[in-house]
Amino acid sequence: MENILAKALGQDATQLPVMEKRDLLARLLKRLAHEIRNPLSSLDVHFQLLEEDLNALSPAARMQLAARLGIIHGELHRLESIVGRFLKLAGPSALELEPVEIKKIVTHVCELLRPEASARKVEILAEVEPELPRVTVDSVRLTQALLNIVINGIQAVKGTGQVKIRAIKAGDNLLLSVQDTGPGIPANELGEIFDPYFTTKPEGSGLGLWIAQQIAVAHGGDLRAENAAAGGAVFTMTLPLNRK
Ligand SMILES: Nc1ncnc2c1ncn2[C@@H]1O[C@H](COP(=O)(O)OP(=O)(O)OP(=O)(O)O)[C@@H](O)[C@H]1O
Ligand SMILES: [Mg+2]
Repeated sequence: MENILAKALGQDATQLPVMEKRDLLARLLKRLAHEIRNPLSSLDVHFQLLEEDLNALSPAARMQLAARLGIIHGELHRLESIVGRFLKLAGPSALELEPVEIKKIVTHVCELLRPEASARKVEILAEVEPELPRVTVDSVRLTQALLNIVINGIQAVKGTGQVKIRAIKAGDNLLLSVQDTGPGIPANELGEIFDPYFTTKPEGSGLGLWIAQQIAVAHGGDLRAENAAAGGAVFTMTLPLNRK
């Protein structure tokens, strides 16, 4: 990944701290999306011209070509919407910050996921330290980040098991952790799971953890993964409590 970054951005990324690497990666992805969008819009213009040319043809030829062109048009639109969604994701995120009780977010995430979890015989537990100070966050985004992490936990558990969300204060930070009783993360994948598009699931996008990490970093915090001594994965989000 570092090589790709270095070549694409013309700088040596190998020596950079991890946060700056992440920032470079986000910039690279954004640039890539923009560069894909330009030829896409010129394809769109030429597509419209082709449709006009079609009118000059015989009805039989028009019918035959119209079906193919319809497919091309549909696919063009699909690509445009993928790029559009992507740019939104990679774009500068204006956080809507407000002081919130972390317990509310944790409870909300539990309520949203409990039906799905219990259908899979997975128990969701929440342990929020009493009298935690409020934390200034974008509650919609933080909820999204926590959902992504807890969903992964539910998916990781094989058979019956648990996903436990914990919130505690540690110095000037709030630590939000999610631990599951699944098999944990293979050591050789620990360095890759936050990379966009890294997935080991047939239907996975590989964006869940990347988005969650972007959200943590946008709040001045971080998201890390490790394996618990007892087995299972633990994801810990650090959020500064006294953010200006
Ligand atoms: N709790 C976990 N236990 C074990 N492996 C995990 C856990 N959470 C994530 N992973 C690994 O990290 C990969 C990336 O996770 P991420 O959430 O980014 O994408 P995904 O879950 O594969 O796809 P999506 O989130 O789009 O459904 C997963 O495919 C899985 O291999
Ligand atoms: Mg996921």
